[in-house]
Amino acid sequence: MKKIITYGTYDMFHPGHLKLLKRAKALGDHLTVAISSDEFNQLKGKSSYYSFEDRAEIVEALTIVDEVIREDNWEQKVTDIQKLNIDTFVIGDDWEGHFDFLKEYCEVVYLKRTEGISTTKIKEDLKETTK
Ligand code: CTP
Repeated sequence: MKKIITYGTYDMFHPGHLKLLKRAKALGDHLTVAISSDEFNQLKGKSSYYSFEDRAEIVEALTIVDEVIREDNWEQKVTDIQKLNIDTFVIGDDWEGHFDFLKEYCEVVYLKRTEGISTTKIKEDLKETTK
């Protein structure tokens, strides 16, 4: 069984998220999604609209997702990959090159982002339309 892992905030779940997860799952048989905790987002200077619990519940409900774990820090990727016997680490190409150091532990794949969609853009667009 080929095991895939990906990481992200997944706030205000949108079609770009879904497309990324579908393509990630298509690379193997089992998909783990590590969702950034609210505390880790704070550390990254991000604040999500939905809580970790809500974001995790939405992603967990997808039939293509086999497991959701919590992402608490930058360092846990290596231990997650080893502990969960991950074959492939997947992330959007906004992170191109950033996680090449994981190639020592598994395959690393950067998938093209869906153009024109992001949580940040949704927030900005909604701000504009409610002015
Ligand atoms: N992603 C994607 N296409 C998009 C938006 C996101 O493929 N249009 C991917 C990211 O590359 C990442 C995953 O979805 O692998 C989770 O991204 P996340 O940062 O949670 O979503 P964004 O919408 O980019 O959020 P933000 O605007 O807050 O950065």
